[in-house]
Amino acid sequence: MSSNLNRRDWLKSGLFASAGLTLGQAGQVIAAPTNNLGILNVYAEREIELAHEAMLAAAPQIKARLSSNENPWGPSPAAIKAISDNAPKAFLYAGPTTMELRKAIAEMHGVSTDQILLGAGSSELLMASLLMAGAKGKVMMAETCYISGRDARDEGATMPTDKVPLTKDYQYDLDAMATRVGTDTAMIYICNPNNPTGVMLPSEKLRSFCDVASSKTTVLVDEAYIDYAPNPATDSMVENVRKGQNVLILRTLSKLHGFAGLRIGYALGQPGTLKELRKYCSGGFTVSTTSAAAATASFKDKAFQEMVLKNTAESKKFLYDTLKSMDITYLPSSANFVLFPIKIKGQVLLQKMMAEGVSVRSWFFDQQNWCRVSIGTMDEMKAFKDAFTKSIS
Ligand SMILES: Cc1ncc(COP(=O)(O)O)c(C=O)c1O
Repeated sequence: MSSNLNRRDWLKSGLFASAGLTLGQAGQVIAAPTNNLGILNVYAEREIELAHEAMLAAAPQIKARLSSNENPWGPSPAAIKAISDNAPKAFLYAGPTTMELRKAIAEMHGVSTDQILLGAGSSELLMASLLMAGAKGKVMMAETCYISGRDARDEGATMPTDKVPLTKDYQYDLDAMATRVGTDTAMIYICNPNNPTGVMLPSEKLRSFCDVASSKTTVLVDEAYIDYAPNPATDSMVENVRKGQNVLILRTLSKLHGFAGLRIGYALGQPGTLKELRKYCSGGFTVSTTSAAAATASFKDKAFQEMVLKNTAESKKFLYDTLKSMDITYLPSSANFVLFPIKIKGQVLLQKMMAEGVSVRSWFFDQQNWCRVSIGTMDEMKAFKDAFTKSIS
């Protein structure tokens, strides 16, 4: 939150909050994170993310940054060249360059350009989707998934949720979800492959679920990690969008393309849904000329993408072997991170690992502590192995 006011006081200041405004200590007017429906911006209030960023900034020397599922091999040389080639025209608004990117994405997925909405990363579009749905009803999701901690973290936020536990083998329980869809379900959020588990749904099962559920509500499939799936083109639910179903897909270039700091994401959906979604975000206006040009170039650089997948597989195998040698059972991952149970508290492990210059993430669910490690270079995985061995002994 951008003001110095105590969070609780701020929530109590209903008069200002309802106007979308509050007063800072110096008396200046500060825009509160609400939309025009008065719903708190559940996504911008990411205390855990902010704490994580502060921790990284304060770290004396990071040997291996394995906490945010970034791609250490990116961005591609073609993307970097496009950034420098396009920098001189960065005084112009990005319109023509973003249009070119939308055309490239449309062609890639076999949809029309009005079925694509760009964002500065998919976070912006995810936030907009949750706000759009939260204004109408409940968001159904799995407990545990990428956004299942959001409303709990944010005591004042109103994003009504319906959380369906994962199955015993940490899969989405699609059968339970299907039976729970009601008239108040405004959206079903499916993260596939799921973060933080890395587990992926069988594509045909998810496709059948989308076929039925999308006739009742919007199904949002967050495909941030789909590029690491065995067959990204057919494992994606984009075919359901092509069929005209009420399915909304979110994609990011932060992972396979190594664009986490360049910020490019996009939504694929029906033109009417995207028109509605635009009311909750900038409508593609946050995307810069340089990042858009870099994205178009990166999509064409297939050799780079293959190199990333090959290196990711090698480093992942090293991590699997390391964990096996320690008798640790990990969840088989279809993404660029791996989750496994730990016997010490997450925060304790994180601190010990940070002292060794390695950042990782921790979770607590299913009455168990878990560690999530992003896949890095082989040197980073070796640094993880050394730090982890010391930290748990
Ligand atoms: C499942 C999932 N969705 C969305 C995002 C947001 O990605 P970005 O905003 O970088 O596109 C992330 C980031 O890690 C993620 O893990």
